[in-house]
Amino acid sequence: MIPLRSYLIIVLIAVFFSFTYSAIDTTKHEENFLQCLYSYSHNSTSMSKLVYTKTNSSYSSILQFTTQNLRFASKTTPKPLVIITPKHISQIQTTIICSQRHDLQIRIRSGGHDFEGRSYVSEVPFVIIDFTYFREITIDVEKRTAWVQSGATLGELYYTISRKSRNLGFPAGACPTVGVGGHFSGGGYGNLVRKFGLAADNIIDAHIIDVKGRFLDREAMGEDFFWAIRGGGGASFGVIISWKVKLVQVPSSVSVFNVPKTLDQNATKLVHKWQFVTSTIDENIAIYVILQRVNLSKKGKSNSTVQALFQALFLGSVDKLIPLMKEKFPELGLVREDCIEMSWIESVLYLYGFPKGESPEMLLNRTQAAKDIFKVKSDFVRIPISEIGLERMWRMFHEDGAKDSMVYFFPYGGIMNNISESKIPFPHRYGNLYQILYSVHWHQESDEVEKIKMNWIRKLYSFMEPFVSKSPRAAYINYRDLDIGVNNNNGYTSYKQASIWGVKYFKNNFKRLVKVKTKVDPLNFFRNEQSIPSHLSKGHR
Ligand SMILES: Cc1cc2nc3c(=O)[nH]c(=O)nc-3n(C[C@H](O)[C@H](O)[C@H](O)COP(=O)(O)OP(=O)(O)OC[C@H]3O[C@@H](n4cnc5c(N)ncnc54)[C@H](O)[C@@H]3O)c2cc1C
Ligand SMILES: *[C@@H]1O[C@H](CO)[C@@H](O)[C@H](O)[C@H]1NC(C)=O
Ligand SMILES: *[C@@H]1O[C@H](CO)[C@@H](O)[C@H](O)[C@H]1NC(C)=O
Ligand SMILES: *[C@@H]1O[C@H](CO)[C@@H](O)[C@H](O)[C@H]1NC(C)=O
Ligand SMILES: *[C@@H]1O[C@H](CO)[C@@H](O)[C@H](O)[C@H]1NC(C)=O
Ligand SMILES: *[C@@H]1O[C@H](CO)[C@@H](O)[C@H](O)[C@H]1NC(C)=O
Ligand SMILES: *[C@@H]1O[C@H](CO)[C@@H](O)[C@H](O)[C@H]1NC(C)=O
Ligand SMILES: *[C@@H]1O[C@H](CO)[C@@H](O)[C@H](O)[C@H]1NC(C)=O
Repeated sequence: MIPLRSYLIIVLIAVFFSFTYSAIDTTKHEENFLQCLYSYSHNSTSMSKLVYTKTNSSYSSILQFTTQNLRFASKTTPKPLVIITPKHISQIQTTIICSQRHDLQIRIRSGGHDFEGRSYVSEVPFVIIDFTYFREITIDVEKRTAWVQSGATLGELYYTISRKSRNLGFPAGACPTVGVGGHFSGGGYGNLVRKFGLAADNIIDAHIIDVKGRFLDREAMGEDFFWAIRGGGGASFGVIISWKVKLVQVPSSVSVFNVPKTLDQNATKLVHKWQFVTSTIDENIAIYVILQRVNLSKKGKSNSTVQALFQALFLGSVDKLIPLMKEKFPELGLVREDCIEMSWIESVLYLYGFPKGESPEMLLNRTQAAKDIFKVKSDFVRIPISEIGLERMWRMFHEDGAKDSMVYFFPYGGIMNNISESKIPFPHRYGNLYQILYSVHWHQESDEVEKIKMNWIRKLYSFMEPFVSKSPRAAYINYRDLDIGVNNNNGYTSYKQASIWGVKYFKNNFKRLVKVKTKVDPLNFFRNEQSIPSHLSKGHR
C-alpha cells in the first residue's frame, strides 16, 4: 500500500544527513530547518509569528506554560531548538516535512501532562509542535457529537458541552487542564468509566497528519490506523489535529460524596471490603479510594496515620444512592449528610477539588493550580489484597520518602468488563477490579530529595508485586513510566526490546500496533522513548 520507493529516497536523504550532522553545529542545523520552514510556508510572515527559538524572549514562557511536571523544567533538561505554535494545518505539514529533511525529531504537545515529559523533552535535537492555538470545540446537540481539537483541555470540553445541555457529558479524566491530544490517544480514564468506558471508546472519527504530511480522516486513514490512535499513543503514528466523539447522556442531577476514614476508623477493613464491591456494584456509581499519610497531631505532638478517602460519583439522586450503599457497602455507614446533589458539570468541579458553588468558568483556566515535581507508577489489581497485605502497605506510608505521596485506587467493572480487549489498543478490561496510581511529589529541585522520593516509589512498586497483575504486570500508557522499559535513543530498537514495555501497556494488541506502525511510518520518524517500533526501521538516528 505504501509506495516504498519514495521511502527509500527519504532514507537516503536521512542517512546522508545523519553522517553530516555531527559536522554541522546546531546553529547551522537550526538555520537550515528554519529556512526550510519559511520557504515551504504559504505565508512566511504569518509563520514567523508562530516560531520561537532560544533568541525569542517568550521562548521560555511558551515552553514552561504547559510543562506540567517540573522534574523536566530544570537547567539540565534538554530544550527544543524550535517551538512552533501552528494556527493552520499547512504549518503542521510544513513542520513535519522540514523536520524529516533536517533530521530533527518532533515532539507533539497538547496539554503537556505526560508524566515523563515526553511531549517536550528529547535527548536528540528536536522541535516542538505545540497545540496552544488548536482548541476549537464544536458541539452538535441533536446528534450528540462533538469535534474537539487536540489542544483543547478536558475542562474546556466539559464546559462547552455543559453550556449546550445539562444532560450531556463526556467520559474522560478528572483533571481539567489535561489536553485531549495526548489523553484520548492513550485511553482516557475518568468518573464515568464504569457506565460509558474510556474517552477513546467514544471516538468516532479523527483528523491526523501522517508522516508524508497528508491530511487524513477516518475513512482515508483506514480502520487499522484509526484503531491504533485510540489508545496506542498518538505520538507513534502522526500528528492528531482533532477528534470526533460521541457525547453521553447524564441525568440533570447527580450525587457525590467524600468520606474520609483513618486507620482507627476501620480504614483497613473498609478498603478491604471496597475491593469486593467496587467493580461489581451498579455501573451508575464509581467509588474511588485516595490513600495518604495524614497528621492528626495536637499541640505539636505528631500523630500520623493513614487516611482512606472514599470519593464517589453516582448518576442518580441521593434517595437512590443511600439504599444502594446500604445494600452493597453498609460498613461505610454512608448517610444523607455525606452526600450532595448537583449537576454533572458541578460534579466535575467538586470532585476535582474546587469548593462547592465554584463557577464552571474555572474549567477554562488552563493554568494548573499546584505545579510541582513528581513521579508516578501504575498497577492493575485482579485479586483482592488481604487485610494483612494492606496493613503492610500502610507501613510504607510512614517512611521518609512518603511525604506528599498519594495512592489512588480507581474502580473498573461495569461496561469495562463488556468491551473486548482488542476493540481498541487499551487492553485492561474484563477481570480487573481496580487500577492503582502511585504518586509522589516534591517541591524543590534537589538531587538528594529526588533520590529519596524515587527510591521510595520504586520500593513501594516492588513491594506490591505479589498483589497485582502478572505476566504481564500491566500498566496504562497515560500513566507513563519510563522505569518499565524504553527504546534506544540512537538507532534501532528490536521488537523484543520494545515488547518489554509494550506488552505491559498493550498486551496482545502490541503486535497489531507494530504492524500498523510498520505500515504507516515504516522508517520510524515519529519516535520517542516509548513509541511503537517499526519492523522495517534499521534506525538511522
Ligand atoms: C495532573 C494530571 C492529572 C491527570 N488525570 C488523569 C485522569 O484523570 N485520567 C487519565 O486517564 N489520565 C490522567 N492523566 C494522565 C494524562 O491522561 C496523560 O498524561 C495524557 O497523555 C495527557 O495528555 P496531554 O495532551 O495533556 O499531554 P501531552 O504531554 O501534551 O501529550 C502526551 C503524549 O501524547 C502525545 N501527543 C500529544 N498531543 C498529540 C497530538 N495532537 N498528536 C499526536 N500525539 C500527541 C505527546 O507527544 C505525548 O507522547 C493526568 C495527568 C496529570 C499530569
Ligand atoms: C501574510 O499574513 C499576514 C498576517 O500574518 C498578512 O498581513 C499578509 O497580508 C499575508 N500575506 C499574504 C501574501 O497573504
Ligand atoms: C522570534 O524572533 C525572530 C527573529 O527576531 C522573529 O522573526 C520572530 O517573529 C520571533 N517570533 C515570535 C513568535 O515573536
Ligand atoms: C470498626 O469495626 C468494628 C466491627 O468490625 C465496629 O465494632 C466498630 O464500631 C468500628 N469502628 C468505627 C470507628 O467505625
Ligand atoms: C505533625 O504536626 C505537628 C504540629 O503541627 C508537627 O509538629 C509535626 O512535626 C507533624 N508531624 C509530621 C510527621 O509531619
Ligand atoms: C492519634 O489520633 C487518634 C485520632 O484522633 C487518637 O485516637 C489517638 O489516641 C492519637 N494518638 C496519640 C499518640 O496521640
Ligand atoms: C487560574 O489558575 C491559577 C492557578 O490556580 C490562578 O493563579 C489564576 O489566578 C487563575 N486565573 C483566573 C483567571 O482565575
Ligand atoms: C454487560 O454484559 C452483561 C451480559 O451480557 C449485561 O447483562 C450487562 O448489562 C452489560 N453491562 C453493561 C454496562 O453494558
